[in-house]
Amino acid sequence: MIYLDNAATSWPKPATCIHALEHFIAKIGANPKYSLHQQARVGEDVMDEARSNVAKILGVKQPKHIVFTLNATEALNRILWGYADRGFRVLASRYEHASITRPLSILKKRRRIKIERIGDPVTGIISPDHVHEACENNPANLLVITHASNLTGTLQPVDKIVSAAHEHGCAVLADVAQTAGVLPIKADKWGVDFLAFAGHKHLLGPMGVGGFYVADPDMLEPVIVGSAGPGDASDEIPTGMPSRLEPGTPNAPGIAGLGASCLGLLDKGVSNIRKEHQRLTKKILDAFREVPGLKIYGPADVRKRTGIIAFNIDGLRPCEVGEYLDQKFEILVRTGLCSCYWGNELIGTIPDGVVRASLGYFTKDDDVELLIEAVGMIAEDLPRSV
Ligand SMILES: Cc1ncc(COP(=O)(O)O)c(C=O)c1O
Repeated sequence: MIYLDNAATSWPKPATCIHALEHFIAKIGANPKYSLHQQARVGEDVMDEARSNVAKILGVKQPKHIVFTLNATEALNRILWGYADRGFRVLASRYEHASITRPLSILKKRRRIKIERIGDPVTGIISPDHVHEACENNPANLLVITHASNLTGTLQPVDKIVSAAHEHGCAVLADVAQTAGVLPIKADKWGVDFLAFAGHKHLLGPMGVGGFYVADPDMLEPVIVGSAGPGDASDEIPTGMPSRLEPGTPNAPGIAGLGASCLGLLDKGVSNIRKEHQRLTKKILDAFREVPGLKIYGPADVRKRTGIIAFNIDGLRPCEVGEYLDQKFEILVRTGLCSCYWGNELIGTIPDGVVRASLGYFTKDDDVELLIEAVGMIAEDLPRSV
């Protein structure tokens, strides 16, 4: 079986991740948030180490400003609900995932925020000029930008956009769900205000872990509150980080697994992973360009995209191609709108979406070659239904 659905969640997971998760459950077990006994302290150390590994990967100097959540969806919701206030004007790219567009749409109804989609009408890429243009006569409070589209892999120049937005007093939330672990991220250097990540995608942690980084915790109202542990002396919300934004029992075994995976990524070097993905992506794109009737979405230049390859074959629905890849070749990809409605509108793939193959840490040349062969055979042989 060839797993090319790493944009949904990565698989397989490193042995070190599985071992750390099992070890936490079997040998540590205690609740790192509530108690002060020796086992709880061991658990807390494991969480601290994981926090510090994630911080290194995200280019964050203050690990305490990293908050663990269940997934990137929860992280994004907590940032948007905790920051976007009544009357806010929010700018967003056209590639935002449903975990951003849906909370924004509810915020529009309940808090009367205004939403404006900006960026190039063909590529969807936002330049500093787009930001200046949008903010010049009409101030915005927040710019939300997905570092790499989960639909086409298209990269956004987050570093350049942050300074443009800050010139107008507009804060920036970068969604790095598709880039953390495969592309160097420099939160501090970029000066980004908020960053949301998925621990279970390219950071190679288990499902059930994600989180966010906040530059200034006072900017964010806690959305979920509860016990912060032994220091709870009143109903006031604690001011220290991460307690202020991380109440309740965490997925400590999952976080232990994430910490171990991140250590492996730091040893390997994210830029080496990036080079390997660029090489494999180029191999697929070069081969796909030779297939008659196959359309590829996103930038041609592998420096401007990640290892996500979205495509369609003339006369075939994406779900038919996906099913054939699955049933006949045991190649697992995602098909459809990929939770990115506005991105599909941009690239003209409503209502059926695309076939999306996404590379992962363990993807090899053999996997890519079989994908190329299988797609070539489908394009040539499969009877057309549309
Ligand atoms: C760009 C992007 N943002 C957010 C999410 C939501 O992540 P999660 O599945 O961890 O909730 C995804 C998931 O695919 C994504 O691709």
